Amino acid sequence: MKAILLAETHQAVQLIDAPAPTAGPGEVLINIRAAALNHRDVFIQQGMYPGIKLPVILGSDGVGIVVEVGMGVDPVWRGQEVIINCSHNWGPNPKFYGADFKILGMPDNGTFAEYIAVPAKYIHHKPAHLTFGQAAALPLAGVTAWRALMTRAGLHTTGTQTPEKVLITGIGGGAALFALQFALGAGAEVWVTSGSDEKLAKAKELGAKGGVNYREADWAKTLMAQTGVGRSARGYFDVIIDSAGGAGFAKLVDVAAPGGRIALFGGTKGNLTDIVPPKVFFKQLVIFGSTMGTEHEFADMIAFVTAKKMIPIIDQTFTLAEAELAMRRMDEGKQFGKIVLEVGT
Ligand SMILES: NC(=O)c1ccc[n+]([C@@H]2O[C@H](COP(=O)([O-])OP(=O)(O)OC[C@H]3O[C@@H](n4cnc5c(N)ncnc54)[C@H](OP(=O)(O)O)[C@@H]3O)[C@@H](O)[C@H]2O)c1
Repeated sequence: MKAILLAETHQAVQLIDAPAPTAGPGEVLINIRAAALNHRDVFIQQGMYPGIKLPVILGSDGVGIVVEVGMGVDPVWRGQEVIINCSHNWGPNPKFYGADFKILGMPDNGTFAEYIAVPAKYIHHKPAHLTFGQAAALPLAGVTAWRALMTRAGLHTTGTQTPEKVLITGIGGGAALFALQFALGAGAEVWVTSGSDEKLAKAKELGAKGGVNYREADWAKTLMAQTGVGRSARGYFDVIIDSAGGAGFAKLVDVAAPGGRIALFGGTKGNLTDIVPPKVFFKQLVIFGSTMGTEHEFADMIAFVTAKKMIPIIDQTFTLAEAELAMRRMDEGKQFGKIVLEVGT
C-alpha cells in the first residue's frame, strides 16, 4: 500500500510502498479514503513532541470503508463508511487519561496510508451528510474542541439561560474553528482573534459576532470596545478557548468576565508570562487545561455534528503524494480550517 512515512525528525515525509496491515482479533481493516493534518504532525516532524518514536506512518485523522473484520468483530461493519476516533486507551477516569493513553499516528502507524487496522471500538459511522474529506477533518481537532468547550468549560447550551459569551483565539487553527462551530451550534455569542484580518472576516461570515487581530498591541482594549462594554471594562467573556499560550495569555485574563472560565489546550506561543495574580483571584477566574477527549465525548461530538448537519471547514485538499506540501502549508500557518489528504477513490 502507499503510505506517508516520517523516517527521521527534521526530514521531509516520504511516499513509500509498505505492507498493508491485517485486522487482528477485535480489529477492523479500513481502506482510508481521506485523512487530515493536525499541528501535532508538524511538531513530530520538527522533533518538538514528547516521546517521538520513528520511523512512523503519520496521521491521526482518517475516514474510510471497512474491508475486513477481525475475530470477534460484528461482520455488519464490513462495507460501512467509518470515522476513526484517534484518542486511544483513555481509561476509566473521565477526568484524566490513564498511563496507556495514546493518539493514533505515533507511536502506532497512522492514517496517512491506504489501509489501517484499528480496534473496532474506535470506529463510528461517518456522518452521512459529510464527504470523506469533510469527515476526515473531524477527529482530533473536533474531540479536542468538544471536551475543552463542552465538558471542561461547561458551556451553557441553548435553553432558558442567556447565551454565554465565548472568545476563541487564533481562529485559523483547526481545533479553534471547531470550537467556533460548536459554540455557535450551542447558541453562544462568539468572538474571535486572529493574526489575519482576512481570517477574521471569514469567521464573521461563519457567524462570529466580531473579532480583533492579536498582532495589534492594544487588541484586548479594542475587543472590549467592540463588544460595547468599553475599552476599560473589567472583562466580557464567560468562556475563553485558547491554544496559543505565550505572553498574549495575560490579556485573556483581562478580557475574561468576573467568574469566567479559560481553557488552554495548546502552547503554540510558549510559556505563559506576566499574568497578574490579583486579576485572576479578584475576578474569581477558573483557568484549566484540556487534552483530547474520552470515547464518550468523541461519540457526543459526532452526534452533535450529525444532528446540526455541521460541515467542517476545509482549507485545502492535497493528494497523498503531496503530503509534504500539506505539512509545509500547516507549518506556515496560512490555513483557515483543516488541511485534508485525499487518499483513495
Ligand atoms: N491538547 C490537545 O489535545 C491538543 C489537540 C489539538 C491541538 N493542540 C495544540 O493546539 C495548537 C493548535 O493546534 P491545531 O492543530 O489547531 O493547529 P493549527 O491548525 O496549525 O492552528 C494554529 C493556529 O494558532 C494560531 N495562533 C498563532 N499565534 C497565535 C497567537 N499569538 N495568539 C492566538 N493564536 C495564535 C493561528 O491562528 P490565526 O491563523 O488565526 O492567526 C494558527 O492558525 C497546537 O499547539 C497543538 O499542539 C492540542
